Amino acid sequence: MSQLDSLKQHSLVVADSGDIEAVARWKPQDATTNPSLLLASAQDPRFRHLVDAAIKDARGEIAHAMDGLFIQFGREILKHVAGRVSTEVDARLSFDQGGSIARAQRLIRLYEKHGVARERVLIKLASTWEGIRAAEKLEREGIHCNMTLLFSFAQAIACADAGVTLISPFVGRIYDWHRAARKVDDIAVEDDPGVQSVARIYAYYKKHGYATQVMGASFRKTEQILALAGCDLLTIAPDLLDRLAGAEGAVERRLSVEGAKLQKIDKLYLDEAAFRWMHNEDAMATDKLAEGIRRFDADARKLEKLIISLSAATSTAAAA
Ligand code: E4P
Repeated sequence: MSQLDSLKQHSLVVADSGDIEAVARWKPQDATTNPSLLLASAQDPRFRHLVDAAIKDARGEIAHAMDGLFIQFGREILKHVAGRVSTEVDARLSFDQGGSIARAQRLIRLYEKHGVARERVLIKLASTWEGIRAAEKLEREGIHCNMTLLFSFAQAIACADAGVTLISPFVGRIYDWHRAARKVDDIAVEDDPGVQSVARIYAYYKKHGYATQVMGASFRKTEQILALAGCDLLTIAPDLLDRLAGAEGAVERRLSVEGAKLQKIDKLYLDEAAFRWMHNEDAMATDKLAEGIRRFDADARKLEKLIISLSAATSTAAAA
């Protein structure tokens, strides 16, 4: 049995990709996208028709073309997954609760206009205090949220208390930060702070009976994925799915509800001040959250530029 098949017995495997052909090949239960993945796919000639369709529907409104593009890719991906697709809200709204709610509602309206039920979509929001409060309100409207850019324990506690559907604690970016801080090429999986972060969050959630699902994300190597076998979901990029499918061997379960229940873990209560303090105490998390927002924003701006140049080319061709 391949490691991928064996892993699937413990965790729900999700494809982390905007490459529709890769998603079609892997046929995962769910799929996740982000602005960087969609920028890569929008530049790929295989998916140009989706960009053109978004531009046509937007009738010159760039913001609408961006949302339209996310929906075009989301709808295509949903043809190949039985479950849900995650679509991210503009990173520029990361500190704007009202703006995030309005954008999420708009994305869901667009999906529903195209016949996609809200149950099949997870709205991705940055796990800032404002993003978490926006998610809390959206969940009450039946709009399910996937909290992303999650690096600290404080973020995880606040998301669970807000009753969000799912969190995506990052592994690889935490590993990247510690590798750079320690000036080393690698950190062994047994000491990997990214793996430890997800295991700690999983144990806390299961110990205290939270319904919020934990989806490990952002992986750099298969060992990190295998070390989290048993996590509710794991979202994995196509190159790592390939490697897991090509390796033989049974995967041992590492995380379990029973194991978590046996641990002594105190429950923490965080109001806004306590959340901000606890998150700020974690230098890695503050660095990575801020950088993550900047990176997603930079890629969204590149995507906007691409849409503007393609719209101009389309108008010129139509006028000729
Ligand atoms: C998924 O939801 C995340 O956006 C993704 O796993 C981030 O991965 P990266 O750290 O490789 O960009």
